[in-house]
This record gives sequence, structure tokens and C-alpha cells, in this order.
Amino acid sequence: MDYKKIVAERIKQLVELDIETIENLIEIPPKPEMGEFAFPCFQLAKTMKKAPNAIANDLKEKIETEGFEKIECFGPYVNFFLDKGAFIKATIEKILKDGENYGSSKMGEGKNMIVEYSSPNIAKPFHVGHLFTTVIGSSLYKILSFEGYNCTGVNHLGDWGTQFGKLIYAYKNWVDEETLEKEPIKELLRIYVKFHEEAETCPALNDEAKMYFKRLEDGRAEEVQLWTKFRDLSLVEFKKLYETLNVKFDSYAGESFYCDKMEDVIADIEAKGLLVESNGAKVVMLDEYNIPPCIIKKSDGATIYATRDLAAATYRKKTYDFHKNIYVVGKDQALHFKQVFTTLKLMGNEWADDCVHVPFGTVRFADKKLSTRKGDVIFLDELLSEAVAKTLEIINVKNPELENKEEVAKKVGIGAIIFTYLKNHRERDIVFNWEEMLSFDGETGPYVQYTYARAKSILRKVEENSNGIISDVELDYNKLNSKEEFELVKQLEGFQNSIMYAIDKLEPSMVTRYVIEVAKSFNKFYNQHNIANLEDESNKKAKIKMVEATCQVIKNALNLIGIEVVDRM
Ligand code: ARG
Repeated sequence: MDYKKIVAERIKQLVELDIETIENLIEIPPKPEMGEFAFPCFQLAKTMKKAPNAIANDLKEKIETEGFEKIECFGPYVNFFLDKGAFIKATIEKILKDGENYGSSKMGEGKNMIVEYSSPNIAKPFHVGHLFTTVIGSSLYKILSFEGYNCTGVNHLGDWGTQFGKLIYAYKNWVDEETLEKEPIKELLRIYVKFHEEAETCPALNDEAKMYFKRLEDGRAEEVQLWTKFRDLSLVEFKKLYETLNVKFDSYAGESFYCDKMEDVIADIEAKGLLVESNGAKVVMLDEYNIPPCIIKKSDGATIYATRDLAAATYRKKTYDFHKNIYVVGKDQALHFKQVFTTLKLMGNEWADDCVHVPFGTVRFADKKLSTRKGDVIFLDELLSEAVAKTLEIINVKNPELENKEEVAKKVGIGAIIFTYLKNHRERDIVFNWEEMLSFDGETGPYVQYTYARAKSILRKVEENSNGIISDVELDYNKLNSKEEFELVKQLEGFQNSIMYAIDKLEPSMVTRYVIEVAKSFNKFYNQHNIANLEDESNKKAKIKMVEATCQVIKNALNLIGIEVVDRM
């Protein structure tokens, strides 16, 4: 139930403002003693030609109070106090009834969404930046799907471009097949780096590389076969990572997929009179928009990254008729997307306005050792294994008796990394710090997962104590009358609201922040109230329902950010 809406509707019956304006004006009072919602009357003063305090008083007298404990004035504000018992009952019952679907809706029904994320480059390591897009994108995909949008998750692999000419040359000259079988990406990276080193002293290598890329573009068997090999080997490694992270895609249409789709787009650009010559290259001028031209073809006739993006967006519109086409890509590519979207718009595509770049910040490591161990590259599989190993160490100290420790360490360790990425506004830079992100207190993944496990253990304990005897006393939600309980249930009720913010801002951190607050509220309750030893059965039963509801909400919220819960840790 949306209580804010109810409040707005009650007010609407009495004043000359539309419902949206009223909803925007409604505030959450700073103290619980002032109720749950407050409506300020300043804006009405002008039209009603009356002092705000007097208006507030009038409204208070006339408003229908049903469903509220009381309605009061605080100066120019009308404050609404929820009928706590009824609110708590309705909220908990709804959560338990909806279960895994609590928080979901049909709001996106009939709308197709493209969410593009991860998009690593073939034959190059998957780096921490790629992990950032992967977790944000995967979370947005889950959140949007939860609200009924029809999502297509796209992995726009970097699997085309002149670098493949270099790689083919490098492969033919320096590859070590044995290492390639065992650690394909590391070996491909090694020979790729070697190519650049060698080309420093022998620039002719660049011409060789160009020749090989040309042969690849022309579809020559040997080059195509090598390219396929690089792509397949890389994908095997990427897919392992996705499995560990529980990330899925509906399409792996990367850059190469658009090879045969670029000519149409280029022809279209030309037909619209947008293609001009500049230093031998073909470009679309964007001076009017104060940005550099969008290069369509280089002077040697080769297409580039931007050309493939123009073809990709056009293809996506045709194939999926998207409502929004979302690109989760680092903020260093902001200009690129501006150029691509502006060009699409100039071509007369109104839908260019539905293409959205969702940028994010950079990632650094507090622990210098880690970031410099292998040049500047951090191998993600190592990062994840380290998180799991460190978590296992912590569990071995805290709870050495725990069963299936490895499995728990995996969920918690990987969850900790995902949580770190999604904890703050995505454009904020992140500094990884092991100690901080693996800590069981503070705003961390392990803290929230621990809270869940703790709540589950209460439920187990109650069950054990009861020896299977169920009393027939009716549960009574009115017994949940402490400040901590009301605060907790209010939090639980706000789940969908946090999802709406997340969608509005394309910001999964709204859900992460939310689940942190739920965990905090639960722990406040936990520290004040003992359930297992409670004599009053009607109270105990109500509290149990509340704990069950809390578990459900934490589970649903963590699920949306890609983290699994554990019952014990
Ligand atoms: N492969 C690129 C990179 O690793 C990211 C691709 C972004 N997506 C796009 N449609 N341009 O930097």
C-alpha cells in the first residue's frame, strides 16, 4: 500500500493542486514524534490568500482520518500519524503473501529495454572497470525485469578492430601453444604486449598487422580461423567469470556482429548529406554541438568503433524496438556516446533520445601491491579468489564449526566485492580496501548477509525451543508497539520506493543503501528485544512474522544487486 499516495489523495479532495504537486510537496518529518508524513501549506497561501498556519489548521479539521492514528498541525504543516497496528499488520502480511515477488510490479509491462553491460575486449584481460559495468548492468537488468520490463541483456564484445591484425602477427611469431591452452588470455596479452614493444624499434610490423587485419576483413580462411580461436578462448574465460558472478546475457552480439551492417548505415549517413571529407577521413561534423566530429571511416577506409556503435544502435531499434537502450560504460567514453547519439539524431532518428549512457567511476586499490603485481592489470579471477580465501580465513576464526564453509565463503566473499561496487553512487570513484569490505560490521556485504543469517538463527532457535508444540494463541500485531519495531516495518514497507528511485536514476546503489538501512533497523530491534524467551505467545508470534518478513525483504533486495543470502555464517 502506498501511504504517501493515500495522504496525497486525502489532501487533493480539499485543495486546488494536482496530485503530483501534492506528492512532491509531502515531506518525511525529521522526528518520529511528528508522524510519518507532513504537508507544508506555504504554496497554498498565495492562491488561498490566507496564512499557511491557518490553512494547515483548516485542513486538519476537514481531512478524513480513517486509517490514521491522528492528524495534527505543526505550525504551517499538517502531519499524518499512521495507525501503527494496522500499518504493521498490512505490511507484514503483504510481504509474506508476496514472498519472492514482494517489491515487484507490472509497471514496465510492454516496454522493451536493452541493457548493455560488461562488453570486455577479446584477448585482453577482464579488468576491474569491466567488473564495474558487469555488476551495475546485471543489477539494472534484474531491477528492471522485476518491475515488469522486457529486458535484453547485451554483451557488446570488443571482438573487432585493427588490434586483431597485431594479434595475428604476434601469434604467428611468438605464441607458446601450451601456455595458450592453459591460460589463454594471459598468453594472448603477453604476445600482444610484445608486439607493441617490438613495433617500437621496428615500425614495419604495423604494416604487417594492417595487412593481416585487411585479410581478416576480407574473410580469408586462415585469419578468420585464428580470430575465431582467439574469440572462443577468451569467451570460455569470460563465461567462467560470469558464472561465478551469476551474471547472464541474452545476446553476445559484439562489434564483429556489425561488420556487414555498417555499409547500410554509412549509405544512410551519406544520403542524408551528413558525410564529409576531413583529412582523408569521412566524418560527420558536430561543431554545432561543440563536440569533435564523429569519425565514420578512417583515411585508409577502415571503419571504427563509432561506426560499429551506429550500426549496433540501428540494429537494436529494428530488432527490439526498445523503449530505452542503456549503455553501462565508463565515464571516459562520455564523449564517444555523445558523438554517436548526436549523429543518430542528425540522421533523423527520433529514438536517439532513448539511448542512454550510464557512466560509472574508476576503481583503485588501497593495497598497492595488488595493483602493480602484473603491470597495471589486475586479473579478476585472482581478485575473486582472494576475496573468497580471505573470507574463509575470517569464518575459520569466527565460526570454525560451520558446515560447508567453502560455499559460504564464496557467496560472502564475492558478495562483498559486488556490494562494494554498488554501495555508492556509480559515478563516485572506488578505493578497494580488503579489510573494510570484508568486515562484518559497517556498511558491507558481509554485514547485511550476517544480519540475514542472524535473523534466520532466531527463527531456528524459536523452532527448537518450541519442541514442535504450536500454541493456539492468536498472534497480535498490536504487540509490536516499540519504536524499533515500527521503524523496522516502515523500512520494510519502503522497498518498492527504493526500487523506483533506482530505476529513475538507473542507480542500483539505491537498493544497496536501502538494504543497509533495513539491516541497521533490524539490528537495533535485535539488540533490544529477545524473542526466544518471550512468554507472551501472541507477541512472540507477531515478532516471528516480522523477522520472517525482514528475511524476505533482505533476500529480495540482495537478489536485485546480484548477491545470494546464506542461512548460516
Ligand atoms: N569494449 C569496450 C571497452 O572495453 C566497451 C564497449 C562499450 N559499448 C559500446 N557499445 N561502445 O572499453
